[in-house]
Amino acid sequence: MAKDYLESCAPNAILFTFGDNDTYPLWYAQEVEGIRTDIRVINTSLLGIDWYINQLRYKVNNSDSIDVIWTPAQIEAVGLAETLVAELKAADIVVIAASMINFGPSSTLKAWIDHIVWPGVTMVPSHEGPRGLITGKKVFIVAASGGIYSSGPMAANDMLVPYLKQILGFIGLSDFETIRVEAQSFGPEDALRSVDAALTQVATLKLSANSTGR
Ligand SMILES: Cc1cc2nc3c(=O)[nH]c(=O)nc-3n(C[C@H](O)[C@H](O)[C@H](O)COP(=O)(O)O)c2cc1C
Repeated sequence: MAKDYLESCAPNAILFTFGDNDTYPLWYAQEVEGIRTDIRVINTSLLGIDWYINQLRYKVNNSDSIDVIWTPAQIEAVGLAETLVAELKAADIVVIAASMINFGPSSTLKAWIDHIVWPGVTMVPSHEGPRGLITGKKVFIVAASGGIYSSGPMAANDMLVPYLKQILGFIGLSDFETIRVEAQSFGPEDALRSVDAALTQVATLKLSANSTGR
């Protein structure tokens, strides 16, 4: 069937395949039997991997190089995202140290979020709403801020803790515990009082997954 497949293609065609079973017979026909080596076989399930993408830029047998649109920098960014997602998947407990910067997360924390929120990898979009794929982990959010947002007149301005819960909920995380280190700009007394309260809270923490979140 692989030979028929190849023979049915126009000269210098590109044949997109998926997975090993689809691809190996074609490679065998080309590499071992020398059939239609003008055809480029591209296995879409390998298209997230840097070495595979980069080898498309070279001529193979009689098939010309492919003009890959992704730059090496873009490919490297995908590699970083894969590493960060793997790290997140491997963790039982996630601790996020988040300082409030202009009412929201810092740009570095936002960059981490933009790497781990990945349709098809950490969540699946659908008509029924998104389905998160990262589940069963306890998340501790340690939120430091100059002002006070747990209650009082500034509470509605907190775009940090609600945002983190929303975006991490989007990828499936639901078991949150928030530890606030607030009032850090209100002078040493207020600042230390909040640190002490945070340390007291930390001393009572349950470190297992699926304890009651708040
Ligand atoms: C650029 C910048 C913006 C900030 N924006 C806010 C803010 O919007 N609200 C707030 O309460 N504190 C704000 N802060 C204060 C920090 O949240 C606070 O100092 C916090 O303790 C920093 O935590 P860290 O030392 O762990 O980074 C800001 C600090 C910086 C440097």
